[in-house]
Amino acid sequence: MDLLPLLCLFLFFSISSGEISSQAGINYGQLGDNLPSPKKSVKLIQSLGAKRVKIYDANPHILNALEHTNLQVSIMLPNQLITNVSTSQKLADSWVESNVLPFYANTKIRYLLVGNEVISNPPNETWFNIVPAMKKIKTALKTHGLNKIKVGTSMAMDVLESSFPPSNGTFRSDIAVPIVKPMLQFLSRTKSFYFLDVYPYFAWASDPKNINLDYALFESPTVKYTDPVSNLTYTNLFDQMVDSVVFAMKRLGFADVRIWIAETGWPNAGDIDQIGANIYNAATYNRNVIRKLTAKPTIGTPARPGWVLPSFIFALYNENLKPGPGTERHFGLLYPNGSNIYGIDLTGKTPDSEFEPLPKPTNNEPYKGKIWCVAARGANMSALGSALSYACSQGNKTCDPIQPGKQCFKPNSLYWHASYAFSSYWSQLKATAGATCYFNGLATQTAKDPSFGHCKFPSVTL
Ligand SMILES: *[C@@H]1O[C@H](CO)[C@@H](O)[C@H](O)[C@H]1NC(C)=O
Ligand SMILES: *[C@@H]1O[C@H](CO)[C@@H](O)[C@H](O)[C@H]1NC(C)=O
Ligand SMILES: *[C@@H]1O[C@H](CO)[C@@H](O)[C@H](O)[C@H]1NC(C)=O
Ligand SMILES: *[C@@H]1O[C@H](CO)[C@@H](O)[C@H](O)[C@H]1NC(C)=O
Ligand SMILES: *[C@@H]1O[C@H](CO)[C@@H](O)[C@H](O)[C@H]1NC(C)=O
Ligand SMILES: *[C@@H]1O[C@H](CO)[C@@H](O)[C@H](O)[C@H]1NC(C)=O
Ligand SMILES: *[C@@H]1O[C@H](CO)[C@@H](O)[C@H](O)[C@H]1NC(C)=O
Repeated sequence: MDLLPLLCLFLFFSISSGEISSQAGINYGQLGDNLPSPKKSVKLIQSLGAKRVKIYDANPHILNALEHTNLQVSIMLPNQLITNVSTSQKLADSWVESNVLPFYANTKIRYLLVGNEVISNPPNETWFNIVPAMKKIKTALKTHGLNKIKVGTSMAMDVLESSFPPSNGTFRSDIAVPIVKPMLQFLSRTKSFYFLDVYPYFAWASDPKNINLDYALFESPTVKYTDPVSNLTYTNLFDQMVDSVVFAMKRLGFADVRIWIAETGWPNAGDIDQIGANIYNAATYNRNVIRKLTAKPTIGTPARPGWVLPSFIFALYNENLKPGPGTERHFGLLYPNGSNIYGIDLTGKTPDSEFEPLPKPTNNEPYKGKIWCVAARGANMSALGSALSYACSQGNKTCDPIQPGKQCFKPNSLYWHASYAFSSYWSQLKATAGATCYFNGLATQTAKDPSFGHCKFPSVTL
């Protein structure tokens, strides 16, 4: 027998068996006003060694920029459209016709996520519409013969009511039966994936006393945890979190639905009151998780040894318009100007010794001391004026000292008055109302006391 037909036969079988590759991808978020063009971004994505890319919409400029590349693409139906799509096959069809069909021939669209962490966000009415919307989108794809596209939705860890020990993993009781069960049914029937957003960073940062940092960074050969019920032994926090989802699915009768790591990563910087967000930890976590996920033979997790865990690392860029604490704006592998924040290789093939040395971490212990909240340099002056008025309208006598003739009136500048108002607002309302030092990016934390002369700035003490 000649070799060629045999080889072809082999190729045919290996492709048709539905094996999924373990190559890592990247999340290409765009919540920045200073990011490179889609064309430049695609070049950067390729230079990082990514084989896949996930976007949070179906931006036609990005889908065009991805034409004729070998990158597999995951697109997203935005959360706001889910409710309408869930009740209208016609709307699902037309969304697919305008957002998928025109690009499919030249751009390798392979995944379509119906919403982003929908169940973690209000309104709860939308939660019940996810699965109906997924079904209608799947039907629309079928109608157009777009059968290579898997349909899913991304889920954060907070859909679990218990994740410890991993064997106790349980979906929240308000969603388990009405939403997650039919979702797993759909994912199982269509051979799709449970798209999981998993951040050991947040789990560790919320309890750094009891969770070992090296365990969260895949760096500890000695710290191990054995689940008393499953008897499985864990050597890192990531596996523990993923397996809690595996056990939660099993509890609902779906032991075989594959998991896709839709987001994971570690922040390279954050606010002063945020622990462990630094370049050293970010590089360590991301390099280690990529090596684990792309290893051959595949590693899987203790509950699923050897299983492929395809992945998208979060994220391509630091995104300056993301709201929330500072870490939110610092998950990038790249600065907005396109240069690397630290050496990284999404193929997982570069050993640590080939990367430049990393800056030593300085915030791996909780910050202890006072923090003030001041106006950010370069803040938009008219926006700063509005933020000042807002801060002064909250709390009690928040801005009395900056009134004319009072001890903090001088220097009489908007920057100075806003800084006082932000510090005063934050120190009064952080503990009781969960106030943040953010103001749409107009405010920033400082450990340097801005007080001047007789003017004493209120502070937050950690
Ligand atoms: C959903 O449909 C309603 C009724 O047709 C419409 O008023 C609304 O604008 C739609 N929502 C979105 C986000 O398109
Ligand atoms: C949705 O949230 C509202 C307000 O919290 C609550 O009253 C209602 O019971 C929730 N509905 C469902 C179906 O969970
Ligand atoms: C297991 O999960 C349940 C909630 O689903 C929780 O009440 C219980 O405390 C957990 N068990 C352990 C040992 O943590
Ligand atoms: C775990 O180990 C204990 C003690 O050796 C044993 O009784 C139990 O059956 C084991 N559980 C599983 C799930 O293997
Ligand atoms: C890109 O931005 C970073 C952070 O602001 C800066 O350190 C770096 O020098 C810049 N690189 C280039 C090539 O401009
Ligand atoms: C400054 O903020 C105002 C509103 O607060 C906005 O209308 C304006 O476009 C902003 N200017 C710049 C340069 O961003
Ligand atoms: C403002 O004063 C009122 C009455 O003394 C008090 O109940 C409230 O908690 C105060 N608010 C803050 C933010 O301190």
